[in-house]
Amino acid sequence: MTLGFVPTMGALHPGHLSLIEAAKKQTKFVVASIFVNPTQFNDSDDLNRYPRKEKSDLEMLKSVGCDMVFLPEVEDIYPNPKEKYEIDLGFLDEVMEGEFRPNHFTGVARVVERFFSLIRPDIAFFGEKDIQQLAVIRRMTEIRNLDVDVRGVETKRETDGLAMSSRNLLLNESQRQEATHVFETLKYGQQLIKEIKDVNVIREKMVAFCKNSKLELEYLELVDNQSLRSATSVDNCRACIAAYCGKVRLIDNMALF
Ligand code: PAJ
Repeated sequence: MTLGFVPTMGALHPGHLSLIEAAKKQTKFVVASIFVNPTQFNDSDDLNRYPRKEKSDLEMLKSVGCDMVFLPEVEDIYPNPKEKYEIDLGFLDEVMEGEFRPNHFTGVARVVERFFSLIRPDIAFFGEKDIQQLAVIRRMTEIRNLDVDVRGVETKRETDGLAMSSRNLLLNESQRQEATHVFETLKYGQQLIKEIKDVNVIREKMVAFCKNSKLELEYLELVDNQSLRSATSVDNCRACIAAYCGKVRLIDNMALF
């Protein structure tokens, strides 16, 4: 029997449910977890403001046929809070999310490694929305030599293109409209790459386009789709963005090829 696993931090939306649906199709028994992991937040305000909706989460998981839900307490995951966790994530910890969210990926690798050891899944599912996180989990699995098949699932979007995210709940009405500019910037990149073959020029044009809004751009990078290292050519190129919409930090990415 193949065991599928979908870790989440709750405040579920159809993006999360698409992971459960993928897991249902590809495995026999699906376990989801809901745990707002304190070690991956570098800002305590962000941790405290993180939406919590356990009751509706459980109903949503049931509606898509999730077989089991793991709802641990912090003490279950971190019985020895002072215990050190070390992992060398290499450049993944230094660029994009790694640069702007120090220790974030160590916290993600730590919690997922703990989940893998408790649940022992055959296949684990992660969203391409968090493309760098997916790469981090793959790297952690490789470093620790774990027998878990890590699979990516396509980003689910709202009808206007905004990538679904639990953080979207924190946007007010005008910010919600502004937020689609992230998606529009990525689509603009897809248009540009049809005519321009210089990644630096494409990037500069995308940055200018994105800045022409109320969003506060944190980074916009063009990277190689497989390695996530800076793209040197337009082949296999993926654009990754992080931007603030008010106090809400949005991230998104899209293959441009
Ligand atoms: P969370 O943000 O709750 O996301 C859980 C999973 O859902 C992640 O794999 C994420 O990439 C995926 N996801 C989020 N939005 C999505 C969308 N619009 N379409 C498709 N998939 C989407 O990511 C985390 O939690 C945590 O870091 C976690 C991996 C659970 C470790 O704590």
